[in-house]
Amino acid sequence: MKKALLFVSLLTLTAMTTTAQVYLDPKASIEERIKDALSRMTTHEKIQLLHAQSKFTSAGVPRLGIRQLNMDDGPHGVREELEWNSWSPAKWTNDCIVAFPSLTCLASTWNRDLSSAYGNAVSEEFAFRGKDIMLGPGVNIQRTPMNGRAFEYMGEDPYLAGEMVVPYIKAAQANGIACCLKHFVLNDQEIDRFAVNVNVSERALNEIYLAPFKKAVEQAHVYTIMGSYNMWKGIHCCHNDELINGILKKNWDWDGALISDWGGTTNTMEAALGGLDIEMGTYTDGKLKESEFDYEDYYLAKPFEKLIEEGKIPMSVLDEKASRVLRVIFRTAMNPNKVIGSQCSEAHYDACRQIGEEGIVLLKNEKNILPLDASKYQKILVVGENATRSLTQGGGSSELKTLRDISPLEALQTTYGNKIDYAQGYYSGRAIYDKVDEIDPEKQAALKAEALEKAKSADLIIFVGGLNKNHRQDCENGDRESYDLSFGQNELIAELAKIQKNTIVVMFGGNPYAMPWLNQVQALTHCWYLGSEAGTALVNVLSGKVCPSGKLPVTFAAKYEDYPYVKFGAESYPGLNKQVYYKEELFVGYRHFSSNNVKPLFPFGFGLSYTTFAYGKPTVEKVGNAVNISVTITNTGKMAGKEVAQVYATLPKTQAARPVKELKAFAKTRLLQPGESETLRMSVPMSELAVYEEQKHGWDILGGNYTFNVGANVNDIRGKASINIAN
Ligand code: BGC
Repeated sequence: MKKALLFVSLLTLTAMTTTAQVYLDPKASIEERIKDALSRMTTHEKIQLLHAQSKFTSAGVPRLGIRQLNMDDGPHGVREELEWNSWSPAKWTNDCIVAFPSLTCLASTWNRDLSSAYGNAVSEEFAFRGKDIMLGPGVNIQRTPMNGRAFEYMGEDPYLAGEMVVPYIKAAQANGIACCLKHFVLNDQEIDRFAVNVNVSERALNEIYLAPFKKAVEQAHVYTIMGSYNMWKGIHCCHNDELINGILKKNWDWDGALISDWGGTTNTMEAALGGLDIEMGTYTDGKLKESEFDYEDYYLAKPFEKLIEEGKIPMSVLDEKASRVLRVIFRTAMNPNKVIGSQCSEAHYDACRQIGEEGIVLLKNEKNILPLDASKYQKILVVGENATRSLTQGGGSSELKTLRDISPLEALQTTYGNKIDYAQGYYSGRAIYDKVDEIDPEKQAALKAEALEKAKSADLIIFVGGLNKNHRQDCENGDRESYDLSFGQNELIAELAKIQKNTIVVMFGGNPYAMPWLNQVQALTHCWYLGSEAGTALVNVLSGKVCPSGKLPVTFAAKYEDYPYVKFGAESYPGLNKQVYYKEELFVGYRHFSSNNVKPLFPFGFGLSYTTFAYGKPTVEKVGNAVNISVTITNTGKMAGKEVAQVYATLPKTQAARPVKELKAFAKTRLLQPGESETLRMSVPMSELAVYEEQKHGWDILGGNYTFNVGANVNDIRGKASINIAN
């Protein structure tokens, strides 16, 4: 009797578990949840997961209690709410956030811990705003200083970009927010971004352009990736079978979802078979105009459903896409461990400030004019529009609506009180797409005259200028038109410096620029974009409260013609007839400057400090599958500071030309007190030293002698250590 009872209750239990809603069970594995959810969904419900239902959301399955995905830009903070179905602001009042420094600034810190702090803080803001996917960060390579979106990326070196993006993604995703890594791949210019076809050698594609994406997939397991607008091999990257199915999903074994860039999908068959998982923003003409449309008309909506129903595309293709989207949903929107997060917390402002302080790069400091000894000056004149202009606005999709921003002028006034006077000196107006303010020459001349007049009675000038987020400055959907700074800044700085030799220049911008006035000024800092705490971070560095430790993630050339692709003409940038050829091959950025002995204005990895550091003799040894390098750094100056030691490898000679130096490791010291030392231990996995062989379509580790050049920047090598590695 008892046995029979047991048998019956076991049967009931089995029946219960087969109908139990495993997909809702947070204790079940994500793969079990996907399988169960999929088995309950109709074809139409699966299709609904694969395309937008509004500007920034894709649907879930309301009948089953499967949540939708809420997305938002990225990557420097949560974008303001837009209307459900247009690019117009929704005019909410609770969506003001902290603007974090630009990703170029983060890269300049060379501090992996700060990258993690960034990912944590920004994702907490996304979580609190009810988002699941943050559209960012970006790791396209800064191939040209003209690129309007370079500020959203992490510089010119794939190793640095890869190393810096991994902690960001890990920290964000640990909070239950998916990163959407941008823009896969070769989206390295904004001119013709919707149509340009990029021609690049297989070697450069793998070693330079794909490398940071690969690291983000393999080491950070990024949950989503955004396909780019441009084409490769004549096919849009949002549904490029070879790139997405071949490289991302098969070769790299990536289990995430590929999201199209907004309006980057152009064809149902290609989208269906080319690896796209979520189609967003279709029928928006590059954000310029809206047209009447129905989300059901998206390429991956009704047209795709029809092909499935007619048996022209197998159900397995749909199931695979739906599974990938469900995986994202269970990892984020329906993740029981997703954090609640917070918005505009003091901790977030602190993270913002610290990243800014470590990302500011001191490029020149004659006679140690910095840190500023304010007691020496009676009247400090601040000149320049960027001292007051909001640099969190503009720029395109990364534009942010902030709760509070501290401008450079405000922070200088707080610190130096009524010693500070201000003259705008120039103006730039507003330029958004085709709405470009005409510059009135008379107004410009009057602003200049006022600044020059005030300069006569000042005993220190702080010029705050650079680029801004206007169209054709640092802004999406357009590239810069000149390597020079605009709005008469070069002439203005030169004239100011003639009047007052104590001139300090503070520049903002995501790109390098020419500096014809450099010899005339005493000091120069480059600040990228610093977000909400811009002024505080800047003044902390200028005043010496913080010792600068940022280093350039990009080469500043003396003149535009020195950039590697320029000599190849328009074909190599911005392209001819919508074809661009990356003729400089592997020799992007410093790989060109150091291999071809072109002297940059400021080399990759460069950045001054208020203190000095001595490097001990580096050591190298091979341990298992890695090469370990160590070096002892000693603070030999008078102020506590941090140093970034960089390791550039010279690989054994190959038939194909290789750069003479390639960044393969770096580490940043803790804050070292005067006289204090720290031994930095860096490990380079052998796979990091592999080179791409075109004949083999794969990677090889070369046998021979490897030299590891350890230094303070690519041109300031302080010690070398070599090792022989057998093939
Ligand atoms: C940009 C993306 C952005 C998207 C949504 C596109 O134009 O290229 O980076 O995430 O718009 O705003």
